[in-house]
Amino acid sequence: MQGVGRPIVVLDFGAQYSKLIARRVREAKVYSLILPYNAPFDELVALQPAGIIFSGGPASVHVAGAPKPDPRVYDLGVPILGICYGAQLLADMLGGKVLPGIKREYGIAHLEHRDTTGFFDQVNERTQVWMSHGDRVEVLPLGFMAIGETENSPYAAIADPENRRYGVQFHPEVVHTPQGPQILSNFVHKICGCDSTWDMGNFVDLAVRDIRRKVGDKKVLCALSGGVDSSVAAALIHKAVGDQLTCVFVNNGLLRKGEPDLVQHVFRDNFHINLDYADAADCFIDALAEVGDPEQKRKIIGNLFVEVFEKEATRLGHMDFLAQGTLYPDVIESVSATGGPSATIKSHHNVGGLPDKMNLELLEPLRELFKDEVRALGRQLGLPEEIVGRHPFPGPGLGVRCIGAITRERLDTLREADAIFIEEIRIAGLYDAIWQALVCLLPVKSVGVQGDERTYEEVCSLRAVTSEDAMTADWFRFPSEVLQRCANRICNEVKHINRVLYDITSKPPGTIEWE
Ligand code: XMP
Repeated sequence: MQGVGRPIVVLDFGAQYSKLIARRVREAKVYSLILPYNAPFDELVALQPAGIIFSGGPASVHVAGAPKPDPRVYDLGVPILGICYGAQLLADMLGGKVLPGIKREYGIAHLEHRDTTGFFDQVNERTQVWMSHGDRVEVLPLGFMAIGETENSPYAAIADPENRRYGVQFHPEVVHTPQGPQILSNFVHKICGCDSTWDMGNFVDLAVRDIRRKVGDKKVLCALSGGVDSSVAAALIHKAVGDQLTCVFVNNGLLRKGEPDLVQHVFRDNFHINLDYADAADCFIDALAEVGDPEQKRKIIGNLFVEVFEKEATRLGHMDFLAQGTLYPDVIESVSATGGPSATIKSHHNVGGLPDKMNLELLEPLRELFKDEVRALGRQLGLPEEIVGRHPFPGPGLGVRCIGAITRERLDTLREADAIFIEEIRIAGLYDAIWQALVCLLPVKSVGVQGDERTYEEVCSLRAVTSEDAMTADWFRFPSEVLQRCANRICNEVKHINRVLYDITSKPPGTIEWE
């Protein structure tokens, strides 16, 4: 860990916000990573943490089987910070008492602190914090004292300064605790003694070392989609193991204009990565002929992708690892997705099904990172802005934007309209202000007039949304002249479209993609 320092390990007890904690620590320029609370104890020890943070979590310490850390964690002698459920764990496991709160405390509260240990340095004596808890600490364990209170929580912040153990009932990691970053920074710098040595360059060095150690002289296969995550994963792994990496790029015929060329140019010509380009466009388009049902389309595209990918992999010879650009938020979402009865809105197509089928070990070097950190990493690795800054693009591609039956001709029409829309957004300087922009070709014909001629052609719908995480979205307010230019150009330049709509549906009730 030379140059980076010992990490802060966040033990994850399943909280919605736990992933934010590690990120806030990294923002304080200290290396931080997340381990599930039940990761083997040796794994935690091997990381030689400078400090440990217990995340929040939805459980109550009183429930049978409530997630708890290995009690040996208290023998490591490193500072510990418990957040919300994590604070209750500290109190409960160290001999205090946690009781169900008299009333649930949820939302904004005001904390008043009295602290001399450095934990609240540069934090206002009265500061806004964000609470979300039912249980609360009633009796402090031996050695602990209260260092902050809110109206409803006399023990909103507790400390055992001698053993460098701290607990906060509130969430310092969320934006509604405006001085939360300062509190976390105090913990990692003043209590744990970490230096500000962390940056993306360090992450590259560390990840490269880690990948080399894992992979040794074995071979890595990577499904490269041209999206941000798989592109950054590929560039990083290539930096680590060079030609031991082979990327497979499947052209499913449902890609954007210029995409196959861009991916080949960047990865083969610039990065000199072994790139296997599988042109399976005909195969996908033939399989989709006459298929109008969105779920059926998704299944066909997903299954065919696995089939084509497996065939390519077999042709390439023995491989040991499958690289994926999985991010930590994906990990959390997929875990909770299997834990609840949430309805399937759409069958998302990712490479997630591949590892089971192919008997390959997974290599996921981006697991700890958030999307914007992945972008920063991509820039650090020298990937062009065109790849690093691009909007998300769904696995089934234009297949779910070509509404109704898919034909080569309709796909070409859609591809042209899409390219104009994106180009105009870039020209207007709005690309980065938009989460995602897309065009759908609708199976609806309308009458128009062009050059004194009657036309009877299809309709397309433009959609651009703002969003934080794609779970909710709002339609983007374009200056009207941008929309006007798009409509003019599409009707004039794209054969078979004579009418352009702008979609002003938010999510919910609409989803971002139409299918
Ligand atoms: P929806 O349409 O569900 O989309 O609001 C949310 C986000 O997910 C993207 N999306 C996909 N991404 N495979 C992916 O990798 C898929 O099958 C898929 N379907 C939708 C969508 O573009 C948006 O960013």
